[in-house]
Order: sequence, then C-alpha cells, then structure tokens
Amino acid sequence: MGELLAIKGGPRSVPEGAVGNWPPIDDVDRKMVLASLEGDSHTYGPNCRALEEEFAAWNGNKYAITTNSGTAALHMCVAACDCGPGDEVIVPAYSWSSSATCILHHNALPVFVDIDYDTMNIDVNKIEEAITQRTKAIIVVHLHGLAVDMPRVLGIARRHGLRVIEDCCQAHGAMVQERKVGTWGDCAAFSFNQNKCLCSGEGGALVTDDEDLLARARQLWSFGETRTPAESRDYHAYALGWMYRNNDLTAAFGRAQLTKLDGYLAQTRANALRLHELLQGTPNLILPHEPPGFHHNWYNFTMRFDLEALGHGGDAADFRNKIVAAMQAEGVQTGLWQSYILPAMTVFQAQNGYGRGCPWSCPHATPVDYSVDRYPVAQKHCDTHTGMTNPLRPPNGLEVAEMTAAGIRKVMENIDQLEDA
Ligand SMILES: Cc1ncc(COP(=O)(O)O)c(C=O)c1O
Repeated sequence: MGELLAIKGGPRSVPEGAVGNWPPIDDVDRKMVLASLEGDSHTYGPNCRALEEEFAAWNGNKYAITTNSGTAALHMCVAACDCGPGDEVIVPAYSWSSSATCILHHNALPVFVDIDYDTMNIDVNKIEEAITQRTKAIIVVHLHGLAVDMPRVLGIARRHGLRVIEDCCQAHGAMVQERKVGTWGDCAAFSFNQNKCLCSGEGGALVTDDEDLLARARQLWSFGETRTPAESRDYHAYALGWMYRNNDLTAAFGRAQLTKLDGYLAQTRANALRLHELLQGTPNLILPHEPPGFHHNWYNFTMRFDLEALGHGGDAADFRNKIVAAMQAEGVQTGLWQSYILPAMTVFQAQNGYGRGCPWSCPHATPVDYSVDRYPVAQKHCDTHTGMTNPLRPPNGLEVAEMTAAGIRKVMENIDQLEDA
C-alpha cells in the first residue's frame, strides 16, 4: 500500500491555514475605499465614472458602463443587441445560470449548444446547426478563463447576420491571437464579484466600441432614462428600464484592485503552469488545456477524472464526489463548479420563467427542445469535473501550487483506498 490518504486517517498534504484568502487587501484598497466613504457621493459617483474609463482602457474598449453585477451587464448586452420576444439566442449548454437566464429577461429564448470536451467551451462546430430564422445573437462564454475561438465565431455570425455577446465574467485578460476577450464581439459583460479576477465585492461592467449599443444598454441600466445620473436628468422613462447601476464605494474598491490586476494575473498564470507541470502523468486525471494561439487566464483550474479508464461503470458524479472529498481531506481546495448542465435546470425543464409558460408561451415564440440527452458532452464534463480558484491566486505562490499538486497526486495514485474504486 502507498501513502495513507488523509480521508483514511493519514497526514494532510496541504497544512491547515497554508492557503491565503482572495483578494489580497493593502493600503491602496484601504485608502481608496475610505476616501469614497468620506466623500459626499455614494451612489453613481466619481469612482464609478473613473472605473468605467480605467476598465475600458485596461481592456482596450472605447466604452464601459459599471453595473451592480455581471448578470446585469449580460442583460444589458441582450437588450443592446435588440433581442426580444420570439428571438432565439444561442448559448453553451454548460455555464453559470445567468449566461442563459439573461436571455429570458428580455423575453427571448435560449437555444443550447453542446460543449467541446477539450476546451469546455461552446462547440463551435455545432453552432450553425442551431441557427434558425429566429436566431438573433450568439452568447459565447469564455469558461474558466479560456477564450472561445472568436475568429471562427465571428465568421459564423457574419455569414448569418448575428450579433455576438461575450460573457467574460471569468475571463479578465484572456486572449485569442494576443487580443483580449471583450474586444471581439459587439459587446461583452464582466463580473467583479468576490470570487472573480477583479473583485469589488459585487459589481461588473458592460464594454463595447459601438455608440448605439452603448445608448441602448445605458437606457436599460438606469430606469429607461437616456442620461446618466452625472448629467442633467429629465427623469423620463423612454423605455423599460432596470436599476443596474454600481455605487461609489464598490467602484473605489474595484479601482484599487484594478491597479494590481496585471500582477495578480501573472502570479496566477505562474502558479497554474507549475501545477500543470507537476500533475503531468497523474493516473486517470485529464488536465486543462491551452491551445496554441490562446492565452488562458487560469481563473479556474478545472480537471476531469477519466472514470472509463478507471473501469468505473456506476454513477459518475457519485464516484467523482468521493474523489473530490478525498482531495479536500488532503487540504486541496478543489470543488464542483456546477452540479447541473443548463438545460437540466428547472427553469428550462419546467419553462417557468415568468409563470404561465412565459416567455416560451409567448405568441411570438416557437417551441425549443431542452431534452438533456441532446448535450452528452456537457453532461459528461459536469459529472466528472473538479476545479479550483483560490489556491492558484495571490497571495498564494508556487509553494501552494506544489502542495496542491502533491495532494492531488496522492489521491489519484492511491485511489484504490476509496470504496468502490
Ligand atoms: C460565466 C459567468 N457568467 C455570469 C456570471 C454572473 O456574474 P455575477 O455574479 O456578477 O452576476 C458568473 C459568475 O457569477 C459567471 O461565472
């Protein structure tokens, strides 16, 4: 027998307290947040406007609008692209719920496309077969920080006259052909929530280079008005609007973190590459992949277990959960990102968006098939994955990546100690 697993009473690979919390806070954060607190503008204030300029400049966009979440920014993208009743919007079958529910907010219908196993992103080869006369836009999600093949997606969109929305909520700084995500499509959404690469507590941004899209997004953002609260307002709702504005305190926090973002991303990359190197050749472990020409931001280091090679024929998710529990007992901060693929979620299975079947029952809509067996790759990925964010991000350095690798290897090399292995 090899080393005794921690879950069986053996020693932990990653000692208690070895992994530091995200995000690191220093005097830059303290000073900026305190200055906002002591200022006289706590709603959409000077820090919100400055964050818009600084984030747009950082990403290489002409315009940004700060929001109170990535989900708000996604809904604004859907509205800005004029998706409405009866329109269909293509979206990957595996993502965060709001990558798809943002479409419902504007009475349009999500149409799911299966994912590609290697990249975990939308399978670009399957997009065209999902396009109908009602398709208005494609939402691509740069999942876990690996960009979708944007030149190919833009080629498809151009051929069919579709808008392209980028969900960049996990993908700050990710690139294709050395060009950042969020600069390829018509518009894009970023999240600044606690767990994201740029953290302001909660928050987000819509970015675009298109003035018309910007104006439509802004109207939805602030009560259907056409002017920002920084301008002279006429308090008139020109269209249906929400209240998706950010506030000055969180924007100050976001600005402080933005000054450190490039450094964070560089350390995360170094940690992920070290972990990747140390995990090469681990039995029955499928490592994430960075195709040539793509720059991963390594937001979430997601691995899959090769249950077929392990000879496991039972419930895949159940066995995966046992392996993950053994890794957690080693002190490895890995977990599940999702337990359900998107079409399997109740909102789509029961079609219970607004009640009474709306928007699917809308007279403008035509039926959409959400049978889960249409997305076998997404389901396989979902059942066999585990992933991590914290151990690879600052303040953690290479030593945490090394301990994490040791814990993962220990479990995979001694998997026979787990029941039903
Ligand atoms: C891919 C993806 N899209 C959208 C969101 C929504 O972002 P937020 O929580 O800021 O609304 C998240 C994260 O929560 C996400 O991971």
